[in-house]
Amino acid sequence: MSERTAPPPATSSPTPAIPYVPGLDGVPAAKSSICFIDGDQGILEYRGYPIEALAESSTFEETSYLLLWGKLPARADLDKFTRDMATNRDVRFRLIDLLKCLPDTGHPMEALQASIAALGMFYPDRDVDKPEDRYNSAVRIIAKATTLVAAYYRLSTGRDYIPPKDDLSHAANFLYMLTGEDPEPDVARVMDICFILHAEHSMNASTFAGRVTASTLADPYTVVSSAIGALTGPLHGGANEQVIHMLQRIGEAEKARPYIEDLIARKQKIMGIGHRIYRVKDPRALVLQKLASQMIAKRGGDPLLVVAQEVEKVVAEHLGAKRIYPNVDFYSGVVYTAMGLPPALFTPMFAVARISGWLAHWIEQLQGNRIYRPDQIYTGTHNEPYVPVEERV
Ligand code: COA
Repeated sequence: MSERTAPPPATSSPTPAIPYVPGLDGVPAAKSSICFIDGDQGILEYRGYPIEALAESSTFEETSYLLLWGKLPARADLDKFTRDMATNRDVRFRLIDLLKCLPDTGHPMEALQASIAALGMFYPDRDVDKPEDRYNSAVRIIAKATTLVAAYYRLSTGRDYIPPKDDLSHAANFLYMLTGEDPEPDVARVMDICFILHAEHSMNASTFAGRVTASTLADPYTVVSSAIGALTGPLHGGANEQVIHMLQRIGEAEKARPYIEDLIARKQKIMGIGHRIYRVKDPRALVLQKLASQMIAKRGGDPLLVVAQEVEKVVAEHLGAKRIYPNVDFYSGVVYTAMGLPPALFTPMFAVARISGWLAHWIEQLQGNRIYRPDQIYTGTHNEPYVPVEERV
C-alpha cells in the first residue's frame, strides 16, 4: 500500500497580467474591419454600410461579397460572384446519401454541421494560403449550405431531395428546394432580407469559435463547422426556435402577461430578449418587426404577432430599466412562421446566412494570424498522492 502523506503546499498560480472577465465580456479578441456595432445607439454596419441600407437595397449575394472581399462589387464582379454561387449549389450524390443515413431524430443543425465538415473531404483544393482556393471554398460553402439544409429537411420528413435551380436568387432557390415551387417574388425578397440581416454580427460566440479554429490554419469547412456547433445553443442561434415555441405556448395576447411575469419571478431567461451588446432594441429586430407586420397585414393578421407585441410590452415594463429589449431572434421566428417555414429550420437559416460573416472572419484571421492560446486561472489542487483503485474510499 502506498503511504499517504499530506500533499506539499500548493504552489499558487501566477497572478495573471489581465484580470479574469467571465464570458470575456468587453475583452477584444481581434482587430476587425468587418462589422461595427454601437449597442447604446443601436447601430449595426457591415464594412461601414448601415444594416438598414443593406436590408433596403442590397441582396444576400452582394452583401456576402461585401463581407468577404471588403467592398461593394462592381457590376461585372457581382455578376461573376452571383453566377459562381448559383452554379455551385448542387452537391455530390454521396453527400445526399450521407444525409439519408443520418437519423431523422437529429436536429437540422447537427446535420448541417456534419455535412459541412464532410463537404470539405470532397474538395482537396483548400490550401488556406492560396487566394483561388480561398475564393472557391468560400463560394462553395455559402452556395451549398442551403442545399444541405433543404435536403436534410426534406429527407428527414420523408420527402425526396429537390436539386437546386441556378436561375433563381440564393434566397428564392432555398425556398424552392424546400417546396419544389418557385416562391412569390415578395416572399423570396423577405427571405433575402432575413439572410442579409443574419449575415454578420462581429465577435460573438460562433464567430469567435470559428476564428479560434481558423487560427490553427484548419481548412474553411472545419472552421465553419466549428462555428455552426457554437451557434446551436439556446443562448445563441438556438433562441429563435425557442421564441416561437414560447409564443405558441402562450397562445393568446391576454396570457402573455402572467406567463412573462412568472418567468421573471422565477428568474428565467425570456428567449429572444436581451443581448450582450445592445442596450436598445436590436436594429435587426426593428427591420424584422416591420417585415412581419407588412407580411401579416397582407394575410389579414396573425395571432402570433399580437402575442409577440404583448410580450414585448410586458418585458419593457419589467426589464426596460435593465435595458433589456428584443433581439434579432424575437421577430425572425414570427416572419418565418408567416412564410410557412417550420421552427426546426430557423437556426439552420440563421447559420446559412452567417456563413458569409464567418468566412469573412476566416479570411481576416489568416492575415497576420497568431494561434489563439488564452490563459486560465487554475483553481484545482496540487500533488495529490495517487491511490490504487482498490484502496480508494
Ligand atoms: N430574460 C430575463 N432576464 C434577462 C434576459 C432575458 N432574456 N437577458 C438578460 N436578463 C437579465 C440578466 O439576468 C441580468 O439580470 P441581473 O442583472 O439581475 O443579474 C441582466 O438582465 C443583464 O443581463 P446581461 O448581462 O445583459 O446578459 P448577458 O450578456 O449575460 O446575456 C444573453 C446575454 C443574450 C445570453 C441573454 O440576454 C439571454 O440569455 N437572452 C435570451 C436568449 C437569446 O435570446 N439569445 C439570442 C441572443 S441574439
